[in-house]
Amino acid sequence: MPLPTKYLDIVLSDLEPGKAYQKCMQEIASDSRDVDYGFTEAIVYATEVRYAVDALTKGRPDHFWNFGDLKGGADDWHFSILDDVKNLNIAFVGGGPYPVSAFILRERYPQASITCIDNHIAAHILSTAVIEKLDLGIATCFTEAIEVDYSPFNAVVIAAMVSGKDELVKKILEKSSATVIVRGDVDVDHDRLHRLNSGFDNDGSVGAS
Ligand SMILES: C[S@@+](CC[C@H](N)C(=O)[O-])C[C@H]1O[C@@H](n2cnc3c(N)ncnc32)[C@H](O)[C@@H]1O
Repeated sequence: MPLPTKYLDIVLSDLEPGKAYQKCMQEIASDSRDVDYGFTEAIVYATEVRYAVDALTKGRPDHFWNFGDLKGGADDWHFSILDDVKNLNIAFVGGGPYPVSAFILRERYPQASITCIDNHIAAHILSTAVIEKLDLGIATCFTEAIEVDYSPFNAVVIAAMVSGKDELVKKILEKSSATVIVRGDVDVDHDRLHRLNSGFDNDGSVGAS
């Protein structure tokens, strides 16, 4: 699904990238629009690539802003779960070109091991460059999320836009002892699973319904 002009104008405007993202999400809601993965990806990548280019050209921003947290409180919710996990070894699945959630986790947990996983080569290359430029000490891995061996990790955070979350969550719970945080509704119940209602569907697109 190509990005309609209204949305292109927003993502290519002078608006701060995260504000442009939030405006697009508001438009999707007010249009009650059916949005597929490609449409979602174009908006998210327009935002994250602009942040990544800014970080690469201008250096570390004043602060890392979780622009995707439309309701507020998501970071505190993550901390309330992860603060209880000792010797954190975190897999962040679906890091994207600018894995700001991993950057926020790095600030909260300076001693933690953190690995960002992504199956998109542009996201992998850009995030690796930003992490190196900002000296954040985060590993990156270019692969399909379902292919990863999660047994070394004691915490796994799954981004809203990750596709195949149901199957992925089941595999992680089965093959590891990790605490799992997933942003999005999945059809799984488990005492180690924490779900955040993100408005994103199982295929990683913005849920229209
Ligand atoms: C754009 S990011 C959003 C995360 C955001 N940067 C943050 O810090 O919270 C979502 C990423 O998930 C990746 N992704 C989606 N499905 C995936 C899968 N099945 N395996 C690996 N990566 C996936 C996409 O390539 C995309 O880069």
